[in-house]
Amino acid sequence: TIQPRAVIVIFGATGDLAKRKLFPSIYRLYRSGKLDEHFAVIGLARRPWTDEVLRENVENSIQDALSPDEDLSEFISHFYYKSFDVTEKESYQGLNEIIQNLEGQYQTEGNRLFYLAMAPDFFGAIANQLNDYGLKNTSGWTRLVIEKPFGHDLPSAKKLNHELQAAFREDQIYRIDHYLGKEMVQNIEVIRFANGIFEHLWNNRFISNIQITSSETLGVEERARYYDTSGATRDMVQNHMLQMVALLAMEPPISLTTEEVRSEKIKVLRALRMMETNEIDDYFIRGQYGAGTVKGNSVIGYQDEDEQLENSRTETFVAGKLLIDNYRWAGVPFYIRTGKRMTEKSTKIVIEFKDIPMNLYYQKDDQRNPNLLVINIQPNEGITLCLNARKSGEGALAEPIQLAYHQNAVSGINTPEAYEKLIYDSMLGDATNFTHWDEVALSWQFVDKILENWSENQPAFPNYRSGSMGPEASDELLKKDGFHWWPI
Ligand code: BG6
Repeated sequence: TIQPRAVIVIFGATGDLAKRKLFPSIYRLYRSGKLDEHFAVIGLARRPWTDEVLRENVENSIQDALSPDEDLSEFISHFYYKSFDVTEKESYQGLNEIIQNLEGQYQTEGNRLFYLAMAPDFFGAIANQLNDYGLKNTSGWTRLVIEKPFGHDLPSAKKLNHELQAAFREDQIYRIDHYLGKEMVQNIEVIRFANGIFEHLWNNRFISNIQITSSETLGVEERARYYDTSGATRDMVQNHMLQMVALLAMEPPISLTTEEVRSEKIKVLRALRMMETNEIDDYFIRGQYGAGTVKGNSVIGYQDEDEQLENSRTETFVAGKLLIDNYRWAGVPFYIRTGKRMTEKSTKIVIEFKDIPMNLYYQKDDQRNPNLLVINIQPNEGITLCLNARKSGEGALAEPIQLAYHQNAVSGINTPEAYEKLIYDSMLGDATNFTHWDEVALSWQFVDKILENWSENQPAFPNYRSGSMGPEASDELLKKDGFHWWPI
């Protein structure tokens, strides 16, 4: 195991992400031996906390997430806090001093990881001030990890990227898409390219359509301010959903280097068909949840969740049909859907294969069941292959059977958290599972077109019940092509 050495600086250390994901993930890296004693974490935020307050919070966050039954005092002693004003020169100078001290104390070889886990307004300014005030002058490496949202549309993303690139090189910028840290998302590549029985069939001659569903049961929670300016398309499609499409559709890379893998994904995004504005409604539909029942609990509609959401036109659900205009995929629809307050929390990919010519073995009433390969991303992790087999006894000739592999049921496999893997990768300098600027730009270009069209007309919201699988129009989208969503 490589044990990278670094000082990790977290901007936004009092925030939700740090508490829910970053602290527990750093702890897991430490527990599994991927971090040894040569690391320190500096938490920054505006609040006047002390080292002790931060350490208490780190300890609590780990208890909440993992409930370890061990003494955490050694681990939390690696954490330091500094109250920070991102606009003030003195803050950066003070930070530089602390880093230098800790570098001596923990022998971190001058490696510095700056992690921006806060509201995006200051991403550009912080990056530049880190540069201007000399925080990148070190004998080791410096890297910048940034959370989403990476811009609000293509122009703002370009502007942000421009600002970042004035201070950091592309190979020093790690744009997080946490779906790329999920075990089964990383597995897409292996399932495809390490199995002859799939890869030869992975094209428009044998696949009829691909369906990607990422459904959530949660509503907007405390995030009304962010979410209402974002909506499901910016929040989920621009990043996570398009990343999964790219991994499912890309050509086999010539090697597993960051550059090769990313360039294959970029080609997919380039081949995405851009709809004409007047066609968008045939390809993308949106929804917003009303009141309903989720997992037995009655819940209120989106517009009633917060004063500022009253009369909101923001979509909390989106479904779409994507076409990839290249040799492999011409004619195969990729259907995607994602939304809040749906029936289940689940992310799942279904690859539906075409029927074979003259299949005599129907189940009943001439019904034939296509072969499906289901990749379960979460909460279950695994793959299921749906086949037909002889039904003994009765009249029907074939019935569907399933071969299933449950990754999280294999003893000894304790799949690491997405964030755990991504933090480790960024410390090792492996950017493969981070998004390249070209991917971000192409995704925005695609999504902007849809949003532009939608901004011009008023949808009748709410249009789906909480606890359902979205508006009817989502089913219609597939029905008109002769398909239906496979149950999640
Ligand atoms: C985030 C979105 O990127 O992904 C959230 O901002 C969403 O709105 C979350 O809930 C879903 O992630 P996961 O890992 O729970 O599927």
